Amino acid sequence: MAGQGHEQRRRLVLVAAPFQGHINPLLQLSAVLHSKGFFITIVHTQFNSPDPSNYPEFNFLFIQDGLSDHDIASLDLTAIVLVLNDKCQLPFQECLARLVKEQETRDDRIACVIYDELAYFSEATARNLKLPSIIFRTSNANTFLARSVIIEMHVQGRFPLADPLSQKAVLEHPPLRQRDLPISSFGPIENFFKLIGNARDVRRSSAIVYNTMDCLEGSSIAKLQQHCHVPIFAIGPIHKIVPAPSCSLLEEDTNCMSWLDRQALNSVIYVSPGSLASINEKDILEMAWGLANSKQPFLWVVRPGSVHGSERVESLPEGFTEIVGEKGRVVRWAPQKEVLAHNAVGGFWSHCGWNSLLESISEGVPLICRPSFGDQKVTARYVSQVWRVGLHLEDELERGEIESVIRRLMADREGDEMRQRAMDLKEKAELCIRTGGSSSGSLNKLVGLIKSFEQ
Ligand code: UDX
Repeated sequence: MAGQGHEQRRRLVLVAAPFQGHINPLLQLSAVLHSKGFFITIVHTQFNSPDPSNYPEFNFLFIQDGLSDHDIASLDLTAIVLVLNDKCQLPFQECLARLVKEQETRDDRIACVIYDELAYFSEATARNLKLPSIIFRTSNANTFLARSVIIEMHVQGRFPLADPLSQKAVLEHPPLRQRDLPISSFGPIENFFKLIGNARDVRRSSAIVYNTMDCLEGSSIAKLQQHCHVPIFAIGPIHKIVPAPSCSLLEEDTNCMSWLDRQALNSVIYVSPGSLASINEKDILEMAWGLANSKQPFLWVVRPGSVHGSERVESLPEGFTEIVGEKGRVVRWAPQKEVLAHNAVGGFWSHCGWNSLLESISEGVPLICRPSFGDQKVTARYVSQVWRVGLHLEDELERGEIESVIRRLMADREGDEMRQRAMDLKEKAELCIRTGGSSSGSLNKLVGLIKSFEQ
């Protein structure tokens, strides 16, 4: 029989949530655990399925998600996640049962299931098959704590807020203001509460992994641990532990790298709204002229669908790319980690998605924060008020204001100081994942826990 006479290798089954900002960290975590000796199986939905070609050493399996094209076109993000959790449990049960059966003839055993917090259907399935499970939270500790505040406000009847843009301090979670609370802008508010309720429920899972680190969120991680009965492992920034190839759902435009090669040190502002946020046509015009008038070189990602009612360049002012010439590049999707690591990039205008933030500070790049929804608002507040590595662009987008904020970040002393603090954070992040660092220690404990699970 397989495995007799020598130690069997352990296999981990990782369940992805079908969004770019979730697929990336899950594959990065998989690469880290693979480097620790585990076999890896990735289970994903058909919707937004990742391209397995960059990960030949992993086994990719898709499950039927039951989402029709009509669902995808008409449902908001929260509704999609709720529907997936209803429809994926049975297919995942069949898939996992098959994997368990197959292991009788293979030289490895499934040690546990690690699932994205948005794929919470996975826990019951793992439990039914007597497998331990671990939750992977791809966002940060402060957002989790801020969601607790929202839930409490809801219970006390203080929700919905009288003014969602209120500057009033959230006394339970300084330095957040009510306008920074990570409230969803997608669909009915009951769905939002249902989703965060489900995603935060630990159920019978054995541990929680966060892509964050002590040097950013030490006290918040400790606070979370005080209120949590299972161990929390903060092991970030995961993408810096071992190299993980790209898993972009859109094709990366790598031509921009040779353009970056021709730009001066720290001169380029990189602009990207991430994978989900979108803006309106008026705002994109203000951004275009603000960038052009700043006279700073820029690399701008205008993702298909990121401008309401349009498919990209058509929304830019007529003749914009010709007017800008060599000074700027507009792409549909960039190789972001490589862009941020390029020494020509001196600033990042970001929506403050958690992956983007980690990728930026890991390279010592300061930010202009323009959050759109949810956790991005929390992160933007921390960037400007706590870590002080960026400017928060809060008011209505207006070209003069944009020009001035770009100048403050890229050409003024204020920006230099932020860049210096970002470089300090980069060093601290490197220390976290080095032997003896907090993330490295947590990762070792996580691996120890997985190995301790009974076979
Ligand atoms: C959203 C949330 O805001 C985020 O905090 C949450 O954890 C996931 O969902 P998203 O809009 O996807 O995030 O942003 P982000 O978390 O920054 O992830 C985007 C990823 O796409 C990053 O890893 C980034 O490197 C990558 N990307 C983005 C590219 O590779 N190219 C691009 O042009 C833009």
